[in-house]
Amino acid sequence: MFEVDRFVADCRAALAEQGSEAIRAVLARAVAEPEEIIRVLGEPTRAAIGMVFHAPDITILNVIWGPHQWTLPHNHNNRAVIGMYGGREDNIFWRRLPQGEAGRIEAAGARSLCPGEVTILGRDIIHSVTNPVGKLSMALHVYDGDLLVTPDRSHWDAESLTEAPYDPELVSPMFGQDLANAR
Ligand SMILES: [Fe+2]
Repeated sequence: MFEVDRFVADCRAALAEQGSEAIRAVLARAVAEPEEIIRVLGEPTRAAIGMVFHAPDITILNVIWGPHQWTLPHNHNNRAVIGMYGGREDNIFWRRLPQGEAGRIEAAGARSLCPGEVTILGRDIIHSVTNPVGKLSMALHVYDGDLLVTPDRSHWDAESLTEAPYDPELVSPMFGQDLANAR
């Protein structure tokens, strides 16, 4: 049974432990029952970032990806734990090129997430996301800090792959309105 207060407490306790297994288990337990998440957080109807909870030590987002929605490459400067509970989320992971390349990046790997799966992104990870299906895809995203005030975040231009200060309206324009509301 999914309850926000309980989920927040479980995530906090798990993030305080060393390693990744505890937080992975908390997310895996939640996304094993997608109908429970939808009962509590609501039936997804459009691309949106739902703010489930945020505090200085934790941010929990209910991310609803629109059909074929994409993001620019971006970082979080927090550890991120992603649990899918509907549709699919394709991640490309990027790495910075050696010094002298002025903040440019190159693709370094990929991971496709299906419902019930959990992935953990380290603090320094740069990723871009695509929803490859023609319907909504849903995921819980947990960060070990307050994502709304995390400084020095970046995104990378789609064509030149050069670094710029993080701008949510450029990173994924389909979210623009909802991100503004979340603030
Ligand atoms: Fe992200």
